[in-house]
Amino acid sequence: MSLLLTDSSHATGVNLARAKSELRSALTEARAGGCSIGLVPTMGSLHDGHLSLLRAARAECEVVVMSLFVNPTQFGPGEDLDRYPRDEERDLALAAEAGVDLVYAPPVEEVYSEGFATHVEVEGLTEVLCGDPARRGPGHFRGVTTVVAKLFNTVQPDVAYFGQKDAQQVAVLRRMVRDLDFPVRIESLPIVREPDGLAMSSRNAYLAAGDRERATALSRALRAAARSAREESLAAGVEAGRRELEAAEIDTEYFESRDAESLEPVTELESRPVLIAVAAEIGGARLIDNVLIWP
Ligand code: PAF
Repeated sequence: MSLLLTDSSHATGVNLARAKSELRSALTEARAGGCSIGLVPTMGSLHDGHLSLLRAARAECEVVVMSLFVNPTQFGPGEDLDRYPRDEERDLALAAEAGVDLVYAPPVEEVYSEGFATHVEVEGLTEVLCGDPARRGPGHFRGVTTVVAKLFNTVQPDVAYFGQKDAQQVAVLRRMVRDLDFPVRIESLPIVREPDGLAMSSRNAYLAAGDRERATALSRALRAAARSAREESLAAGVEAGRRELEAAEIDTEYFESRDAESLEPVTELESRPVLIAVAAEIGGARLIDNVLIWP
């Protein structure tokens, strides 16, 4: 599908829209022609995890749109908004290589115009794990759901792709889509890992060598937890994981087992998928990881 953009002329050859109006007019013809549209929302600093989402979108949809926007409203005070890694040229080149049809990379004012006062908030699911008021707080997810709702309205995708590494984000967005009747299917793709097991994340760039090595304990702990949950019990699994992290001297924000959809705490493997999730700050980088256990 070729898209029509008046200013598509980024050096990489990828179509680039900075304004909602450009994005909409570029997609009008595709939509009128009944093409399926896949959206991969990103904050840039692309890694293989993002590329796996782009590949899935490319394989399944006729038009692939990638958004590239470091969303200020999902960063709390004192978080890493200012130092979040940004390299637009590299991201556009990778998007072009991955066969993206259109990148939407708006400036902040295009998304949050003066006097912006409307937010989308999913209750309950956003108040646990990363949203626990004693930790990051639900404000992070309010920022995510607000910007993703805006992207859904602007792009009107048939399918939107997210990484399972942000398992809570996926659960929250699925809830938002159901509750607000967005006509979009959410696809969540498996976590992509470095050869030593560390889950890929743009924040891994913050890790100094020693901390990078210590951070591998997160995936080791999750593997140990999943093994012992299957062989013994969920409680034994969580204990095994926590022991692994203690041995690596990692202070976790949480290491917990939860129902994968409702995020309610669970202590036994029954008929529903269970998420074992961890968050920890290592060398100034806040890292998350998880494993899904299917009964
Ligand atoms: O997962 C992310 O990178 C962000 O939370 C998202 C979904 C692009 C919204 O800013």
